[in-house]
Amino acid sequence: MAAITMQNLVKKYDDGFPAVNDVSIDVADGEFLILVGPSGCGKSTLLRMVVGLEDITSGELLINSERVNDKAPRDRNLSMVFQNYALYPHLTVYENIAFPLRLSKGEFSKEEIDRKVRAASDTLDLDEHLERKPANLSGGQRQRVAMGRAIVRDADAFLFDEPLSNLDAKLRGQMRTEIAQLQRRMGITSIYVTHDQTEAMTLGDRVAVLKKGVLQQIASPRELYEQPANLFVAGFIGAPSMNFLPARIEGNVFKTPIGDIEVPERVQRKVSGKNDIVLLGLRPEHFEDSKFVDEAKVPHGTTFEAEFTHTEWLGNQQYGYIQFEQDQAVKHKLDELAKDLDADEMPSQVVVSLDASSRIRGGTAANIWLDARRMHVFDPETGENLTRDEEAGAELTREATEERKSEIERARQKADQESNGAGDRSDSGGRHRAAGAAGQGGSTSA
Ligand SMILES: Nc1ncnc2c1ncn2[C@@H]1O[C@H](COP(=O)(O)OP(=O)(O)OP(=O)(O)O)[C@@H](O)[C@H]1O
Ligand SMILES: [Mg+2]
Repeated sequence: MAAITMQNLVKKYDDGFPAVNDVSIDVADGEFLILVGPSGCGKSTLLRMVVGLEDITSGELLINSERVNDKAPRDRNLSMVFQNYALYPHLTVYENIAFPLRLSKGEFSKEEIDRKVRAASDTLDLDEHLERKPANLSGGQRQRVAMGRAIVRDADAFLFDEPLSNLDAKLRGQMRTEIAQLQRRMGITSIYVTHDQTEAMTLGDRVAVLKKGVLQQIASPRELYEQPANLFVAGFIGAPSMNFLPARIEGNVFKTPIGDIEVPERVQRKVSGKNDIVLLGLRPEHFEDSKFVDEAKVPHGTTFEAEFTHTEWLGNQQYGYIQFEQDQAVKHKLDELAKDLDADEMPSQVVVSLDASSRIRGGTAANIWLDARRMHVFDPETGENLTRDEEAGAELTREATEERKSEIERARQKADQESNGAGDRSDSGGRHRAAGAAGQGGSTSA
């Protein structure tokens, strides 16, 4: 088990470009941390620095408070699972899993190796496939073999670099669930790189968002979603994305190209005197067809008329689209944001979520309601979220930490019961080991 501390880590490749730029992250013992960001933002580089495959240009890397900058990868006792699995095609599943144990010659007896491989295969449901070769396995099964190889080593932490990106969407969803359950059962510290925000949101205790090598925000998924620190995080997290709408402040009204929106009191204090133009951050679900809004909710928002270009009905959900003329004063910032997010451009349209039974259709004007309690306001120059409530955000992350602790505790109890039920089975991998490990994770994860 391990706590991993990154202090001011910098990686400059030969061309002098800082691929990782002053990143500090504390990964608690037992925590599942996600590194997320667009292509080229430095996720793999950072992970490879932790595991020891890449030199650290400057900064400190600590594992359980011990400095490991100069330690060889094998002495860091971390297990890495790669995107392409790196399985040996000529070896059976059994031998692929046993491989790291056979590498450390003489350290494990034949019986020990057998016990560990079988425990891992039991944990990963691979018992029926032990004698097969990787070529005859499905993508998901190969992924599990790669995980098995990580598990048998009794490593202090798992590091994953986009382990699911080779799988089709359905299998990816399935493996995502398996990894989440396995990690909770074992309570083992994990750092997981992805650019898939669904993976980030569903797997992570906390998610670290990177942009061009710089850490933008690290928080629980809910805090990132509800209290993003800046335009980049706001635009990256959430699908469909947050809408960014230019607004000029006139008294207590935001003049926007889709209509006038009252400035909520909470927001007034934060924007007054600062900018004459801002970017409103409005998530699709902050809107509703006004016909479907509860009487009691109405005063918490603004109702205004907008012209819809088209709607999309998806059965349980409906989206409406409103085009608008972009304000030239913010266009450069939105173009830059689009580039940072790996998108072609920021569409000059607002996507609003409508009740599935709403009759709003393209080519008509309709009244929509906007929940003003949830609107964000961004500084169009710095990108800073002017309305971020740090305390509320921190509370969300605290809650998530608490929930997580109880979840690990429950998994530990269940594993205890199961291993008691299984009599004197004394496997050193898989579930047995899981129980102890999860206990530690539960008591110290922050
Ligand atoms: N060996 C290298 N030499 C020079 N530059 C490199 C090297 N490896 C990576 N880079 C650069 O460092 C930056 C970060 O790369 P990295 O592979 O860490 O990104 P990433 O976030 O993992 O991207 P992706 O999502 O595409 O895998 C990129 O600009 C990349 O071009
Ligand atoms: Mg990468």
